[in-house]
Amino acid sequence: RRLKILVCGGGNGAHCMAGVAGSHAEIDVKILSLFEDEAERWSNILKSNFLTVYEPLVNGGHMEISTKPKLVTNDPEKAVEGVDIVFMVVPAFAHSQYITAIAPFIKPNTLIVGMPGQAGFEFQCINILGQKSSQLAIASFESLPWACRVDDFGKHVQLIGFKDVLGMSVVTGKDCKIPFPIVDTIQDIFGKKPAINLVQNYIAINLMAKSIIHPPLMYGHWSNWDGKPVRKKPLFYQGVDPKQANLLSKVSDECILTAKKIEKLRNDLKMKDVIHIFDWYKTYYHDEITDDSSLMMAMKTNAAYDGLLHPMKNVEGGFVPDFNYRYTREDIPYGLVVMKGIAELAGVPTPTMDEIITWAQNKLGKEYLVNGRLTGKDLKEARAPQSFGFKTLDELFNI
Ligand code: NAI
Repeated sequence: RRLKILVCGGGNGAHCMAGVAGSHAEIDVKILSLFEDEAERWSNILKSNFLTVYEPLVNGGHMEISTKPKLVTNDPEKAVEGVDIVFMVVPAFAHSQYITAIAPFIKPNTLIVGMPGQAGFEFQCINILGQKSSQLAIASFESLPWACRVDDFGKHVQLIGFKDVLGMSVVTGKDCKIPFPIVDTIQDIFGKKPAINLVQNYIAINLMAKSIIHPPLMYGHWSNWDGKPVRKKPLFYQGVDPKQANLLSKVSDECILTAKKIEKLRNDLKMKDVIHIFDWYKTYYHDEITDDSSLMMAMKTNAAYDGLLHPMKNVEGGFVPDFNYRYTREDIPYGLVVMKGIAELAGVPTPTMDEIITWAQNKLGKEYLVNGRLTGKDLKEARAPQSFGFKTLDELFNI
């Protein structure tokens, strides 16, 4: 039987996923985009064009895959009809819109994959899907398998780099039976890289979410900024300095402390995959990094990050940082705030996360954290366990 998949989204990751999956003759790919007129534009483009994934190779050559998705639509009913796997490939702030749209039409025994789920994905899916979630499975990847950028909407996406390994967790509802092997099927779609590492529980994946990377770098770079436009857009990863690397390292330490405490409190849980970000780079980007003598150097010499810049807005006299870009808008409410929430339930202090959240929430005009506690007026818009009424650690393991 042919595998039918739905890709939700219309950005970099969605283009790449649609192309990579579509390169398999036995897979039908549909795309759902609810953003503005994206579905209509993309659909029109595909009438006379292929979708091409372009992959530069280290030896200077390149690979190309050209495919045609079966359907691009903004109609959630048509999109989800007959589908075996739904891949959510949108920034986390768009998840609730997509889950809400497909909820009435999704059939039992469908697999929903957050790619990446980003922290709090499972809480949000279960909250929106309600009783239906017991008949579904929810998988979550810790990041996107690729670094990728669309360079011509609908037609052309650059696959800049692969991760070597990628963690995924699966929560299977008690009345759900997925009729295919989950890991093998997704691995076949991806190809050789990244190798999927099945992680024992979803809280580990939440603590592994790669949303920890951007906020410390943003905070480290801009917290003492004088507010004056800068002449050039600074390099984001290649520009990492010791202060930024140290902040990131400390946030990662706080995730590990939380994981260790959870393992101590609940000895049925394995949290060994929650590793330090430096070890993660060395393992997951092994082939891309040329100098792994420190976290800072590993980031600066990671080929998958070549040339990526700080998110900036054009203004008179130069550029100013865009604090509404997903590096803060996504990675605070659907990242650090969630990890902080899990740490709070585990009774682990997180001074560095608190410092960064306090600065970033101010830039976002939001309030999640008040005096080190997640009691802010905007907490409901975030995805901490506390945003959905979880009060104890044990409740997280009875979803
Ligand atoms: P993107 O920035 O390309 O996503 C843009 C798309 O999201 C739009 O085309 C639209 O379909 C949707 N969208 C944007 N604003 C929206 C809104 N207000 N309402 C509804 N939909 C909206 O994102 P990308 O690059 O595809 O990333 C997807 C996820 O993968 C994110 O969580 C990102 O952090 C993560 N990621 C991306 C990497 C990359 O290289 N692109 C690398 C690692 C992680």
